[in-house]
Parts: sequence; structure tokens; C-alpha cells
Amino acid sequence: MTGTTSRRRSWRATRAAGLPPGPRWPALVQTLVWVLAPVEFGRFCLRRYGPLFTARIVGYGPVVHVCAPDTVHRVLRTEADRFDATKANEVIRFVVGGHSLLLSAGAAHTARRRVLMGPLHGANVARYVALMESIVEREVRGWRVGETVRLLECCQRITLEVMMRAVFGITDSARLARLRLLVPRLLDISPLVILMPAARRHFGGHGPWARLHALITEVDGIIHAELAERRATPRGGPDVVSVLLSSGEPVTDAELRDHLVTLLAVGQETTATQLAWLFERLLRCPGALGAVTSATHRGDREVIDAAINEAVRARPTTMDVGRVALEPWEANGYRVPAGTLFAVSLGLLHRSPSAYPDPERYDLDRCPVRGPGFLPFGAGSHRCLGASLAMTEMRTIVAAVLRSVRLEPDRPAAEWARPKGPMLLPHRGASARVVANHLLDGVARSC
Ligand code: HEM
Repeated sequence: MTGTTSRRRSWRATRAAGLPPGPRWPALVQTLVWVLAPVEFGRFCLRRYGPLFTARIVGYGPVVHVCAPDTVHRVLRTEADRFDATKANEVIRFVVGGHSLLLSAGAAHTARRRVLMGPLHGANVARYVALMESIVEREVRGWRVGETVRLLECCQRITLEVMMRAVFGITDSARLARLRLLVPRLLDISPLVILMPAARRHFGGHGPWARLHALITEVDGIIHAELAERRATPRGGPDVVSVLLSSGEPVTDAELRDHLVTLLAVGQETTATQLAWLFERLLRCPGALGAVTSATHRGDREVIDAAINEAVRARPTTMDVGRVALEPWEANGYRVPAGTLFAVSLGLLHRSPSAYPDPERYDLDRCPVRGPGFLPFGAGSHRCLGASLAMTEMRTIVAAVLRSVRLEPDRPAAEWARPKGPMLLPHRGASARVVANHLLDGVARSC
């Protein structure tokens, strides 16, 4: 059978299965383009096939991409019970553990969300702001005038510190020091281990699986030591551990451990990356940078939030959230069979040219939050539990940085999105040159 014949057959199979159209390239080629350039691949398919298209991805089979407001709304909200949100997360069970929200469905999921909602709701999160500001100040004090800083790495250090000290309430300096080293490695899992179950073997204590296992064991040991101490000497406070331990609802150490690792896995690097994109965009739009800098001095939250929302729209950290159809599902004249994987593409939803003209342009006046279908934190029963924390953190960090330093891009060209696992990072780490550091002047002045 020639390559062309086999491609025609698999494309016909896609049509016969009732799936929406998509590229006719071999699955391997589609997979490579999807993995290496997900934004460009998505934009190409959206232009060519419309907001419901099928990509054929090695290891997953046909993946139906949904990116129009009405169909996204159906999958995430009104018909959410016809889809399973946990199957797409199975691959990280060995890290986040069986009690994780990411692997829970139905009543167990609702109960676990209720437990975690308390410490992560807006009013409680507001109590972390002073600590967040002191963490930023400590980081920014190390930036010398004239040097180039990779803001992504700086934001990763800041958000990790916020997570460990504010959200988890860890104060023991030895534990904090060890976690600073271990957590970044925990979040940098080899794709080999994620994609190939065959690679999940110990090979006599060598290889990525053995290393990951040792890492998880050490992180778990630190978390369990912290929990034992906090149970023995409760100290109160707004952090997740204190709130859950004092809530009166029984919660085991195993559950708490899985909740904490889940928050690290989905909350820390996402927020750092979104912040890095925000700086990357602002530094290339001097008008917007000026407006946001003065807003930070006036405490004008509306302008700061507009800048954050527009960065989340134009430069999302992840393109899709995954769902598996539990029953056949019909849309736009297609009937997608049960068991099909769906990629609900928030990245493409936010790039729809009809909703956002010239969608790649960063425009502070756009106010995406009022636009149709702006769902940076998802929707429905799996909507981001850390949305308030993420917004508070981004607002606090960007304001504290812009009040303290003056930055310029180290190169005029925009940074492109480099995939790393499910994340899209600015490819040079949002590099910027420090022009002035008012913390080192000893005087914080207006730019
Ligand atoms: C800019 C930063 C963030 C973005 C863009 C973001 C985005 C999202 C999105 C789109 C989902 C929905 C996934 C789905 O429907 O399958 C989600 C879920 C979730 N996020 Fe976030 N997130 C961010 C920060 C955080 C933070 C800081 C935390 C907590 C520390 C957090 C905790 C969670 C949790 C626990 C879930 C799973 C909820 C569930 O399945 O019920 N996220 N996030």
C-alpha cells in the first residue's frame, strides 16, 4: 500500500467514524507538528477546517478539537456529564496520587473540591499578599543594573516560594531549602516516562523512572514530616494545611499529600509561565508598559487586571484541556463516537478572529474578559480551583516588580512559544535587561 493510499484510507476512516475533518497528513507528521508547534498547528487547522476539527495523534488516535464558544460551553458546562475529565490525567497518577482532584470524578470530586475551596477562595488568598510582596522584594534585590534576567526563572522561584510558604505554610528552613531543589525537578518529568509505560521500570536503580521514584519518595518524606509536626503542634493560619487540619473534617495524611502535590503540579509553574508571558508582552508594548507601571503606583487594579487578562488571552500557558466522550456526541452535523478524546482548545477559543480581531496583537484596550468565550481558567465543575490565587499572585507580583525596577527587552523580537510538556514557555525565558533598580537606590520612585 502506498503512503498516499494509506493516508486516503485513514482520512476516509475519520469521515466514516463521523469525526469532523482534519489534516490528511500521516499521523506521525501531525503528531510531530502538534508537539513541536501546537499554536501554529491549531491556527492552521482552525483556518482550514473551522472550529471543530480532528487531528490524528500517535498514542491517542483521533483527537477532536473544539474551539467555538457554543461547543466549548456544551462540553465543559451543559453536557459535562457526557465527558470524563480524569482519563487525560491518568498519565500523572504516579506523581499526584489517587486522591488528587485531577483523578476524581462525581461525588468524590465534589467533596474534595469543597475541602480545598476554603483555603483557596478570594478572601483567604488576600491574606497571602504581604508575604508575596516580601518574596518578590527579596528576589528583585538580587537584580543588578545592566544585567539580563530571565524573568521566567525569577517567576518560577517566586511562585514556588509563595506556594511553599504562603499556601502550604512551611516555615522550617531545612525543608524549604530541600524543596527548592527538588520541586523544579519533580515538575520536569521526562516525556519518555509520561508517554511510554514501558519506560517506567527501575533498570537496577538507573534511568528516569528510578530517578523520579527517588525524587517522589524524598518529597513525600518532607511533606509527611511537615504534616506530622503540624498535627502535633497546630499553629493556625490561612494556609491550606492549617485550614484543612482545623476544619473538623477528617483528612488523612495521604489525602493531604496528594492535594499538596496536585497544587504544586498544576498551580506553580502555570502561574510563573503566565507571568513571564505578561512581562514578555508588556516589555514589547511600551504604551501598555507605561500604563500598567503608573497603574501599579496608583493601585489601579482594573488596568493591571486588563493587562493580565490580555496576556492570558494572547499568550496562554496551555492550549487545551482534555475530555473523553462517555457516549456518542453530535455537533455541527458530525457524530463523534464514545471513547473519543476531545481537546477543548481554550488557546484557539481566545484567538478567534471574529471575537478578537488581529488576535495575536497584545492590546490593553481589548478587555477580553467582556468578550464572548473568555475562559482562561476553564469552566464547569473542573474550573480552576486556584483562579483567585493565580490572579492575586499575578497582580501582586507584576505590581511589586514594576514598582521596584525598570526593565527593557534584551532583544526587540517577540519570543515564540516553546512547548515543554503541556506548557508553552517564552523560548528565551522572557529575557529582560535591568535598566534601574529602585530597591538598590534605596528609594522607590515612579518610572
Ligand atoms: C495563570 C495560572 C493558571 C491557569 C491559566 C490555570 C488554568 C486552569 C484550567 C484551564 C483548569 C481547568 C482544567 C480542566 O477543565 O480540565 C485548571 C484546573 C485546576 N487548577 Fe488551575 N490554573 C492556574 C493556576 C492555578 C493555581 C495557582 C492553582 C492552585 C494552587 C490551580 C489549581 C487548579 C486545580 C486544583 C485544578 C483542577 C480542578 C478540578 O479538576 O476540579 N491553578 N486550571
